[in-house]
Amino acid sequence: MNNILPKENKVVAIVGMGYVGIPLCKSFLDSGLKVIGIDINNERINQLMQNNIVLNHLANIDFKKYLDNKDVTFSSDIKDCENADSIIICVPTPLNDEMQPDLDPIKNAISSIIPHLKKGQTISLESTTYPGTTRDEIVKPIEKTGLKVGKDIYVVYSPEREDPGNKKFNCKNTPKVIGGITQGCLENGLDLYSNVVDTLVPVSSCEVAEFSKLYENIYRAVNIGLANEMKIIADSFELDIFEIIRAADTKPFGFSAFYPGPGVGGHCIPIDPQYLNWKAKSLNTESKLIETALSVNRNITNFVIQKTISELKKVNKKIEKSNILILGVSYKSNIDDIRESPSLDVIEKLLNLNAIVSYDDKYISKILLGDLKDNINQVFDATLSEKELSKFDAILILTNHDYYNIENIAKYSKLVIDTRGVFELDKTNIFRG
Ligand SMILES: NC(=O)c1ccc[n+]([C@@H]2O[C@H](COP(=O)([O-])OP(=O)(O)OC[C@H]3O[C@@H](n4cnc5c(N)ncnc54)[C@H](O)[C@@H]3O)[C@@H](O)[C@H]2O)c1
Repeated sequence: MNNILPKENKVVAIVGMGYVGIPLCKSFLDSGLKVIGIDINNERINQLMQNNIVLNHLANIDFKKYLDNKDVTFSSDIKDCENADSIIICVPTPLNDEMQPDLDPIKNAISSIIPHLKKGQTISLESTTYPGTTRDEIVKPIEKTGLKVGKDIYVVYSPEREDPGNKKFNCKNTPKVIGGITQGCLENGLDLYSNVVDTLVPVSSCEVAEFSKLYENIYRAVNIGLANEMKIIADSFELDIFEIIRAADTKPFGFSAFYPGPGVGGHCIPIDPQYLNWKAKSLNTESKLIETALSVNRNITNFVIQKTISELKKVNKKIEKSNILILGVSYKSNIDDIRESPSLDVIEKLLNLNAIVSYDDKYISKILLGDLKDNINQVFDATLSEKELSKFDAILILTNHDYYNIENIAKYSKLVIDTRGVFELDKTNIFRG
């Protein structure tokens, strides 16, 4: 494509060893490259050095042979990135207290990397962010040092599409979008990722790649918001939203099913749309759909609570002092991530209503629950027996982990508020929430 030779990609440094960085590290190792995994969190690095992956759904990742062979090193010293041919940044991109993008992790990461840059290195930003971030926050600080991007250093943006817990799609078989600052940057980025991804999707700029990642997540947020809003309306018709969506989903074209729930959680869907909207506002435009979807998804926990209150009332129970069992605290089934989980909001609201709240979620230890932990009772295998289940006045299915005994829940619970469409509504003790 041009006269820039692909750089060697024998050693990759990954900065940010979290939900994204750890599986990416494993993918590069499996492809035969060497990896330096870097994180500012010393505890995380110590755990990784002992081959101890504490993020539950990643627990099957085994670095032992790579640690033994010294193919991988884990370090909290950013200086180690000078030994890499490429540096991939996957640090968090949260919102601050004003619900605005907080780019400090990206800014801190690049400012710590810059003193150790070596000519010829490729830098890839994978963190989800608004269009323009790579150019403003990566390229500009690098060029301030006198290095020229596209000549001395190569910069690409290639968003991560990690779907925690997904058994079908992984790094290798999930197509990956990539944009470069220059054509040479793009070529070096393609060369890097071709080691671990079957299908690369080059686009014309970093900004297109940045926007495309946000578009994917906004698409989800808006469609889940639609399903959540329709759930409330279907309920007022005394109709089951899950049956409605399943029927609509038989249309073989022009429809993709999204399902309602107790809200949205994780580090992406509740946060990323706000990244685009915030940036759009600075350009005197905005998305009403994003704002509406975020608000609907945030407030759906009120519907869950109201449903619980009204169904308890029908059996002459008040929410105060009622024994409530929460099934599922993580935001998604079979994983241990509670970031932005709507379950936390539901629990807090129930506690404020003086309900007695217990939870069964083997992925979430009490420690993770922070301020909530002193007021909530952790129970184990509560769904296994008639005796356990019948202790509770209401059972709220907020996240449907595979290990729950669904049959027994249906059979022995006094009242079930099912936010996930686990059950058909053909039993007198089961209601949508
Ligand atoms: N988790 C997902 O499923 C997912 C999916 C797609 C995209 N993303 C995006 O990927 C990015 C990372 O997400 P994550 O879930 O892996 O986050 P995470 O919090 O699990 O991991 C990020 C890691 O970066 C480390 N870190 C922060 N600042 C650092 C610095 N200056 N230097 C070195 N390490 C630093 C943190 O200690 C942490 O271990 C975010 O932008 C997120 O939106 C996440």
